[in-house]
Amino acid sequence: MNIIRVKASKSYNVIIGNALLKDSGKYISEVIKPCRAVIVSDNNVAPLYSQTVKTSLESAGFTSELFVFPHGEQSKSHKVLLELYDFLSEAGVTRSDCLIALGGGVTGDLTGFAAATYLRGIDYVQIPTSLLAQIDSSVGGKTAVDISSGKNLVGAFKQPSLVLADTDTLSTLSDDFFTDGMGEAVKYGMIWSGELFDILSGGNIRNDKARLTDMISRCIDIKREVVENDEFDKGQRMILNFGHTLGHSIEKTQDFSGLSHGKAVAVGMYTMTLAAEKHALITEPISEKLKKCLEANGLPFETDIAPGTLYENSVNDKKRFSDRINIIVCKTIGKAEIINMPLEEYRKLITE
Ligand code: GLY
Repeated sequence: MNIIRVKASKSYNVIIGNALLKDSGKYISEVIKPCRAVIVSDNNVAPLYSQTVKTSLESAGFTSELFVFPHGEQSKSHKVLLELYDFLSEAGVTRSDCLIALGGGVTGDLTGFAAATYLRGIDYVQIPTSLLAQIDSSVGGKTAVDISSGKNLVGAFKQPSLVLADTDTLSTLSDDFFTDGMGEAVKYGMIWSGELFDILSGGNIRNDKARLTDMISRCIDIKREVVENDEFDKGQRMILNFGHTLGHSIEKTQDFSGLSHGKAVAVGMYTMTLAAEKHALITEPISEKLKKCLEANGLPFETDIAPGTLYENSVNDKKRFSDRINIIVCKTIGKAEIINMPLEEYRKLITE
């Protein structure tokens, strides 16, 4: 078992290991006094793991309730959020109670935002069950719901009290879903650690429990350092968006029903690196190594979307209010840089 302490505006442990769910109540009771705990989970994950967590919470002195919502990004909405608020209110949940997010990124973001806002804020714990949620979204306190004009446009920074990343839960993921998470793992190697990148380039992580736990811990430790340096996303934290500007454009062009997030990020990282090489923004030829690493992990690296469309859909983002854009490039493997450039220069970078 590995424990990583995140020292943000609120400090907390991320525990990574196997067989954690059955002791989740004990771990949670070490940071939150036994109270009423509401487990929030979707209809895919709840049947698999909610009873284990409930039993464990109850044997540690908590009373527990379960709120289940339909799986999928469409549930990261105000509709489900309002249903959750009503559930909490009708169950008599008070400020000294807590929420437990049991599931992937949608569950973590939705539950975190409910915890940030219900009664002006109550404690919550993240129990991420997807690879993507374990290595990225459950750590760092970004919470949000989507609105019709875009993803994650209403949210809050709210750090959890504890993150329990039980690697056993990854065994129920489909290969496709697991591969999706690997896109974010390769991102961490590219932006921060040549050593992690080399490990990932060897592929075959899924079936080697020790390498898998090591990889998850390395990714979380990188996230820890970035979040500790820039919790509120004003500077360095932007490097976590490497591959995301184009990745998001791909997802949007395909109406969020084509490449999944981690795979779109994989294509975004490669496309940006190749463009940066061609335009001499970087001097070291790293795109070929990145391509091989993506392939070794079953990830895509290219798209047939026209460069003009890719550009358009990456700048028509309602979160951008300027004629300049920050792009993230890696000048070498293991080091990311934020480059602020005029949109016209960015257009040439992507389309020419
Ligand atoms: N997932 C990007 C961030 O936490 O900043």
